[in-house]
Amino acid sequence: MHKKRTIDNRLGPLHRRWLTISFAILFLSGLLWLGFHYFVAVKTNFGEGPHPLQQWWLKLHGLAAMATLVIVGSLLPGHVRKAWQHHQNRLSGGTMVALAASLTLTGYALYYFGGEASRPIISATHWVMGIAALPLLIAHIISGRRTRQRQTGKL
Ligand code: HEM
Ligand code: HEM
Repeated sequence: MHKKRTIDNRLGPLHRRWLTISFAILFLSGLLWLGFHYFVAVKTNFGEGPHPLQQWWLKLHGLAAMATLVIVGSLLPGHVRKAWQHHQNRLSGGTMVALAASLTLTGYALYYFGGEASRPIISATHWVMGIAALPLLIAHIISGRRTRQRQTGKL
């Protein structure tokens, strides 16, 4: 069913705050892991090894991932359903949902299917999409806002 009326689909303040906090921790912990993994090493008795902080960035990342998924799940019945029914921002919104699903699947695969050969490929697929998530989220917010402003003339 195509509903013509334009809706204001902005998030409530709590939703917005928790999404921002959890996504910021998710994104930064991922970046920190990458930085430590590729650029920081320490000398051990057995040669060069990972910095002790590196594993903590991943532990923080796993926690933030779970929190982010709860929040993304909470967007489905309101934010996503309403916008989908009104055909607003479908392409960019659909991309966000597909991205979240792909990050979840590749994150899961890193836990359980990381063989010696496949792990580097799964890892790179995951973090390239992860880094792309920030510009795509920003583009999603801007294009949604533009649609509403164009159709309603409201700021
Ligand atoms: C993982 C999934 C998604 C996330 C994390 C997400 C997140 C967001 C955020 C943070 C905003 C800015 C809200 C604000 O300014 O308060 C937004 C705006 C918007 N989103 Fe999504 N979204 C998702 C999926 C979708 C989908 C699937 C659709 C459409 C079918 C959609 C449609 C919109 C629209 C229309 C706006 C503009 C709201 C307005 O300014 O009136 N979103 N989204
Ligand atoms: C919904 C979004 C996301 C989910 C569910 C998710 C989940 C996961 C999971 C489960 C792991 C494996 C942790 C482990 O092996 O102990 C992981 C690793 C990782 N994630 Fe994410 N993640 C998400 C978004 C991101 C983002 C936005 C980035 C951005 C930089 C990112 C970067 C990384 C990196 C660098 C690793 C380590 C890869 C490796 O061990 O080889 N992730 N993620």
